[in-house]
Amino acid sequence: MTKIDLSVDKGRRKNAIKRAQERNIVIPTFAQMMEPSKIPAAVKTELKSVGLWDLHPRNLFRITWHNEPKSSGGAFGSVNYLELPSSLTGVPARIIVLVGKWFPTGAHKVGAAFGCLVPRLVTGQFDPTTQKAVWPSTGNYCRGGAYDSALLACESIAILPEGMSKERFEWLSKIAGETIKTPGSESNVKEIFDKCKELRASGQDLMIFNQFEEFGNYLWHYAVTGHAMEEVLKQVIGRHGRYRGMASATGSAGTIASGDYMKQLFPDSKIAASEALQCPTLLENGFGSHRIEGIGDKHVPWIHNTKNTDLVVAIDDNAVVNLARLFNEENGRQYLVERSVPEATVSQLDLLGFSGISNVLSAIKLAKYYEMDENDIVFTVLTDSMDLYRSRLHEMHVEHGEYGSTDAAGDFARHLHGQSTDNMLELRYPDRRRVHNLKYYTWVEQQGKTYPEIQDMWTRTDYWTEVQEQVDEIDRLIVEFNDEAGVLR
Ligand SMILES: Cc1ncc(COP(=O)(O)O)c(C=O)c1O
Repeated sequence: MTKIDLSVDKGRRKNAIKRAQERNIVIPTFAQMMEPSKIPAAVKTELKSVGLWDLHPRNLFRITWHNEPKSSGGAFGSVNYLELPSSLTGVPARIIVLVGKWFPTGAHKVGAAFGCLVPRLVTGQFDPTTQKAVWPSTGNYCRGGAYDSALLACESIAILPEGMSKERFEWLSKIAGETIKTPGSESNVKEIFDKCKELRASGQDLMIFNQFEEFGNYLWHYAVTGHAMEEVLKQVIGRHGRYRGMASATGSAGTIASGDYMKQLFPDSKIAASEALQCPTLLENGFGSHRIEGIGDKHVPWIHNTKNTDLVVAIDDNAVVNLARLFNEENGRQYLVERSVPEATVSQLDLLGFSGISNVLSAIKLAKYYEMDENDIVFTVLTDSMDLYRSRLHEMHVEHGEYGSTDAAGDFARHLHGQSTDNMLELRYPDRRRVHNLKYYTWVEQQGKTYPEIQDMWTRTDYWTEVQEQVDEIDRLIVEFNDEAGVLR
């Protein structure tokens, strides 16, 4: 199956519609997530009394980059973004980050989960009255999946490695029906797949929404995150600005799909895929464990459009954890102000979670590699914020002691302004094929994809555009579903 399967099961769909009626559920369309001006006024009125993270079905409409940045009653505005000044990044290029903190759950992965679940729900392929939704993840995706499941009245099972941050488990224990811890940490994705296999064999009535292979994840970011980037670009580009590219870690390779959208608008732009230096799978088929929570690795996700990836960038996790301290400890922030980073920026640096810091470093390296100037614009994404890693900051404080101004000066010089173009690879055609070929070992050998499928993905020129074009059809199915449920009439 190359495209998202949209074949309808009428009987099961009836069950899903009945459930929506009983639970007052209205499903937003992709078009509404891209442009909240299309959201009905009645929904906006209801949301005035709903908190951002509340388990309220109307919060499905808050699966968008446009949420007003407040914890309760927020309306919709322009896309949440920050432009990082050169005083911070050390490069003249303009680095613009989309901010994920203002999604429900504090991470944009609610969107990826929506993209995987909703096509199955509105077609009747997934029956929320009998089946459980399983969310294999390295952290935020299963939080997003458990959350979306709760809003859509589905039972859920979250799967994530035992080594992930405490905050994730505490929250999941309240939201997910069941949470399964798999052995290892961040990059132990194979263990997550093994658990899925075990669940499948258990005979339980469940559906596994594997973000690493589901094109709904790709499509949500292609359409919704891509559109958000385009919108911000229009706001900031000015007379001399040039969009040059985007950088993103490839946890499941969902977010990086926004680069495909932008490259269709700006064919000369670049897409940089980043990963941890301690687990350099894309760079050199490497493996290892690392501390950039959320970005997994040791495999290439099925939905990574490797043919469209221009560079691979590996980021040292030491840089990431030390910059987390620089950005969040009092002495770190004070040092940044002394180095002329505007206070308005410094006070918002907790919007960067670990992978956000890593993405910013990837964008800096991309800008350095192509010698970009002050007219050049690079985008990246902050999946989540430091809110999900407070315990990690505390652990570092305990382990390493007080963070002083000498630490700050060292980290700033070494890990931020000292970023170089090391551990980068500009991908030639055979390099892209080498990365694609790595998919064989996970997806064909272990996960049931076929030889023709992996060949098709590489050779067919309309492979990815066929998926991209499915947005309208999914929206049509969502509208029909809502009409039949009749909740907003
Ligand atoms: C914190 C964090 N950063 C980055 C990513 C990677 O994003 P993607 O899976 O869209 O490639 C994830 C994915 O779960 C994540 O949780």
